[in-house]
Amino acid sequence: MKGIILAGGTATRLFPLTATTSKQLLPVYDRQMIFYPLNVLVKAGIKEILIIVAPEHSGQYINLLGSIFEKHNINIDFKVQKVPRGLADAFIVGEDFIDDDSVAMILGDNIFEDDLSKDIMNFKSGGRVFAKEVPDPERFGIVEFDADKNAVSIEEKPEKPKSNFCVTGIYVYDNRVAGIAKNLKPSERGEIEITDINNWYLNKGELDVRILAGEWLDAGTYDSLLDAGNVVREKEIYKKFHPVINESIKDFNEELKIIAKKRLN
Ligand code: G1P
Repeated sequence: MKGIILAGGTATRLFPLTATTSKQLLPVYDRQMIFYPLNVLVKAGIKEILIIVAPEHSGQYINLLGSIFEKHNINIDFKVQKVPRGLADAFIVGEDFIDDDSVAMILGDNIFEDDLSKDIMNFKSGGRVFAKEVPDPERFGIVEFDADKNAVSIEEKPEKPKSNFCVTGIYVYDNRVAGIAKNLKPSERGEIEITDINNWYLNKGELDVRILAGEWLDAGTYDSLLDAGNVVREKEIYKKFHPVINESIKDFNEELKIIAKKRLN
């Protein structure tokens, strides 16, 4: 399985913080936000990861992540997304990268408390998404369940939500996903919607919707960014990272120290 992290976009809700760097490089407690979704993929044993970035921040991503995973045989690729066209665009931008494999795509600003490794590793075919109860369902893709807790519909930002369960920002699909994405028509907001991909699988009876037990946060506003840091500290999520991530962050810091020392001499 391949992994994609979507870290493009302009993140205007976090201006002026995001005038100088990418949202997904802002700190959440003791590390850059991007390490949280990276951790989900690395924990699931994924060795090929594509990070989709906006052109203005590509250099910063390469500096931070371009080589630190090499010794662990984890390959990080980058692709620039010039204009954000919707979450489903990740599979078009990443089509060659996905090649003949299945793919787990995760949003670069999403933080999950649950360990999703098994749910990702034992994926076979179709689509698999993860839902969480939220107080403000109008903002999300919302799943309607029947009495037996089977998903029956998903609506993007519904005016009259049929439940409070939103589809969170991690999506696992089989190899058909790029083809499906390419056939999508943009929605009213001018984006190709991940909800349309989910409905494609749902209509075929091939979408597996799982409910998250732990915290889920998207760090897209000042408040949710602050909340994310606090939750990471309180729930000690920073202690539950894969050793490869911790070691890589340490290596990066050591490298920086050596460079700084050389400059002083
Ligand atoms: C997107 C998706 C939505 C999903 C949400 C999760 O919303 O379109 O279905 O529930 O991510 O964060 P957006 O962030 O584009 O408003």
